[in-house]
Amino acid sequence: MQYQQPMLRDNALQGKTYIVTGGGTGLGKSMSKYLLELGANVVICSRKLPILEATAAELSQATGGQILPLACDVREYEQIEAVIEQSVARFGRIDGLINNAAGNFISPTERLSHRAFSSVLDIVLKGSTFFTLAMGKHWIANQQAGTILSIVTTYAWTGSAYVVPSACAKAGVLAMTRSLAVEWAKYKIRLNAVAPGPFPTENAWDNLLPPPIREEFDPAKKIPVGRTGEHQELANLVAYLMSDFSAYINGDCITIDGGEWLKGAGEFSNLDMVPKEMWDMLEAFTKGNKK
Ligand code: HXC
Ligand code: NAP
Repeated sequence: MQYQQPMLRDNALQGKTYIVTGGGTGLGKSMSKYLLELGANVVICSRKLPILEATAAELSQATGGQILPLACDVREYEQIEAVIEQSVARFGRIDGLINNAAGNFISPTERLSHRAFSSVLDIVLKGSTFFTLAMGKHWIANQQAGTILSIVTTYAWTGSAYVVPSACAKAGVLAMTRSLAVEWAKYKIRLNAVAPGPFPTENAWDNLLPPPIREEFDPAKKIPVGRTGEHQELANLVAYLMSDFSAYINGDCITIDGGEWLKGAGEFSNLDMVPKEMWDMLEAFTKGNKK
């Protein structure tokens, strides 16, 4: 078995229905594909209906699963309610929500207008909290259990220079996850988060690693395991967290980044750069110092 392979048993999610925001592209598309392969019905929603429709056609052809593409701007509460309504009309019930939609760009913060700041906060923080609120109200009113998973990032707790609106928003999504995991457990609603490190996707790479800086800032160079993530690895983790196999995991945030953020945090991580042959000399020096 290898990490690029599907992990859960066949039909592990048979009969379940999941909503994936931003499911038409990138990681949302890969997660949706795997949920379909495991037998789930999937609703994908975002702003651009033609992209969603193309993805739905491709994934239903590839997996034979039931997938419903719906236009929805997650900043608009009424549009979210409409997605929930149409999903129930099509599939009967909803078992889980993946808050995956996001917007982000790199910039020195002092160059940003307040509208630019709002644009990211509105998509990520407001979008995820609005969808969570609407979904929670629906499940509580109908006395149904549900699972909510939010895709954050490792800088949700460390913060990060040059992506400050995204860092603020993802930190808020993580706070919501931990808070509601406790408050809504009594309704059988479970909330968790996943914090991926770099996983190549077209949009994220174009927005965060534009070609002029791509070579210099190659993320693989600062990841201890020496590579970026494979989409199937993330899909495996997400499918498990959305399934009943993870019923006792609630309020957690699972990091999947090859050790990247800890390397950034560790005081001496850069000693990786010291060549092997230099360690004899350094050891002699440090031992000599003790004497
Ligand atoms: C500075 C910018 C900007 C940029 C837009 N603005 N892009 N400012 N640098 N690159 C400003 C605009 O000038 C405007 O302000 C305001 O933001 C709103 O712009 P709109 O284009 O109207 O915004 P909107 O339609 O809301 O677009 C959202 C978006 C866009 C965030 C700007 O990039 C988007 O939709 N991206 C989705 C894809 C994406 O980002 N995916 C990556 C997720 S990866 P003014 O003042 O001029 O009106 C991720 C985690 C990475 O999040 C972790 C890696 C390890
Ligand atoms: P992506 O392809 O750009 O996905 C973002 C999705 O969000 C798009 O499908 C977009 O669709 C949707 N979206 C944006 N604004 C929206 C809005 N207002 N309403 C509804 N949908 C909206 O990027 P990705 O790399 O796959 O990222 C997916 C998630 O993983 C994000 O939460 C991101 O923060 C997280 N993440 C990614 C990485 C990485 O390395 N790729 C690392 C850490 C975390 P429309 O344009 O059609 O609306």
